[in-house]
Formats: sequence, structure tokens, C-alpha cells
Amino acid sequence: MKKVTKAVFPVAGLGTRFLPATKAQPKEMLTVVDKPLVQYAVEEAIEAGITEMIFITGKNKRAIEDHFDKAYELETELSAAGKIDLLEQVQNILPKHISCVYIRQPSPLGLGHAVLCARPVIGDEPFAVVLADDLMDPKPGTPNVLAQMVDIYNREGTSMVAVKNVPHASTNKYGIVSVDPYKPKLERITQIIEKPAPHLAPSNLAVVGRYVLNSSIFAYLEGLGKGAGGEIQLTDGISSLLTTERVMAYRYSGRRYDCGSKIGYLKASIALGLKHPEVGQELSEYLDEISSSN
Ligand code: G1P
Repeated sequence: MKKVTKAVFPVAGLGTRFLPATKAQPKEMLTVVDKPLVQYAVEEAIEAGITEMIFITGKNKRAIEDHFDKAYELETELSAAGKIDLLEQVQNILPKHISCVYIRQPSPLGLGHAVLCARPVIGDEPFAVVLADDLMDPKPGTPNVLAQMVDIYNREGTSMVAVKNVPHASTNKYGIVSVDPYKPKLERITQIIEKPAPHLAPSNLAVVGRYVLNSSIFAYLEGLGKGAGGEIQLTDGISSLLTTERVMAYRYSGRRYDCGSKIGYLKASIALGLKHPEVGQELSEYLDEISSSN
């Protein structure tokens, strides 16, 4: 069985939920403590054994390419100023064995279309899809969510999506699955629907932004028309894939922050800030101070 060595990062979205912050900067470059969201996503993929990062970019996304590229001027300045720690941080964002590919999605036609844009680079290999908006924070001492999924893929060989239960009233924000039992934490998807209204949702088990897919998905994405929200949906491709292959829903362990929403982003900033070696203690004291003065 082929190993998962490639990950697709769809980063062409407009980030309208975060305007005006995202007027001139990509939403994936919003910073949680001291790193942009897209760097958390890439680090998760590296830890899961992925070596080729495929970014599906669009208009106004140059900052993402620059972030993972060499920064000659900055590096020269830091080196001349003897700021060796910072120089190393800037130089080591990507380990040497990692390569990046950037593919421009001509227009934002939807997540399914973005994934299809990666087909020439993926070929017939299995691959991961990582949505940087969904920041995953694993439990201490456990592998990250994508690493958990790649590990299961290596045993099962079936496409898989990460899932979690959400409030029933929120089904219209997610891909929603219904499942049959299979193994602990791993269930077989019987149905998947993109953003159903609560009264039409078959369950409250929602897809979050991690997928490991077989390349057979491409044939289905190719033929798809517009789905929910007038976009070509990855969920609809997976729904078609279900007619010929098993697809699993994986109840990951770890915490997910929806950094595409303001409240999720703030929660992530606080939770990761509290764990940060440089600022954690002071932030904790400050939170105590403001909550006791209210
Ligand atoms: C996308 C997917 C959806 C999934 C969600 C997870 O939606 O289309 O199925 O549940 O990511 O974050 P988006 O949030 O991009 O609208």
C-alpha cells in the first residue's frame, strides 16, 4: 500500500468572516500567539510524516508563499545584528526534506474544486487535506490528529474524515455524516451531506478539517456540479466515492479550534497562549486579574 506523503492545503478562500482583518492579508496568515495558522497546519503535516506540501492558492495569497520561502534580506539583517536565535527560527520554519508546491486556483469555486486542482501533483497516491482554519491541539503526549489518521490509513487503506459531535443547531456549518459501527473511534460512513439545515441533518456528527483520501476521489470531483452554497463541494465528492469504496469517520482525540470564527480564534489564542513557555504564566495571571476585577 502506498504511504501518505502529500498534503493539500486549500488556502484560496476569501476569509470574509474575518473582515476587515483579511482585507489585505490571507486569513491563513492570522497569528495565534506567534505563528500563522498555516504554519500550525504545516507543522501538523510534517509531524504526520508528510513531505510534500501542496498549497492551492488564489488572489492575495503571496504572503503564504513568502512565509515558507527564504527571506534573504531579513536573514542578512538578523545575521549582521547577531540575532542568531531569531535567524534560526526564520530559517527552520521548514525542515530541509520538505518541499512545497503552489497551484493557483483560477477562481474560488469551492473546496472540492480546490482539491481537484492538486490532481496533477498527487497522481495516484493517497493524500491528506488540511484546512488551516481548523487548528488542532492534541492532548499532551499523543500524536496530532493528522498523524493519528495517517497511522490508521496505513493499516486500513480506506479514505477517512475526522469527525466530532456538534450542537444540533450548528449542522448547517459542517459536512454531516451518518455512520455504522466498525471499530472503536472508527466508523463506516453511510451518508454524508454538506451543511444540512438542522431539521434535515441525519445526525450531529460533523466533519472537521482533516481528511485522508484515496486518489479515486478525483474521478468523482471531476464530474461534480455546484452543491451547497453554489460551490463544488468536497463533501459531494466523498458522497459519490461512498458508492464504490468504504470511507471512514474517525473520532479523533484532541481539541479543535474553529479559527475561521472570531470566538474560535480568540479561544485558540488564549489556550495556546497559556501553554506558551514565554508568555503563559503572565497571561494566566492577567486572566485571573481581569476576571476578578469584573
Ligand atoms: C468545510 C467543509 C465542511 C467541513 C468544514 C470543517 O466547510 O466544506 O464539510 O465540515 O470545512 O471546518 P467551510 O468551513 O470551509 O465552509
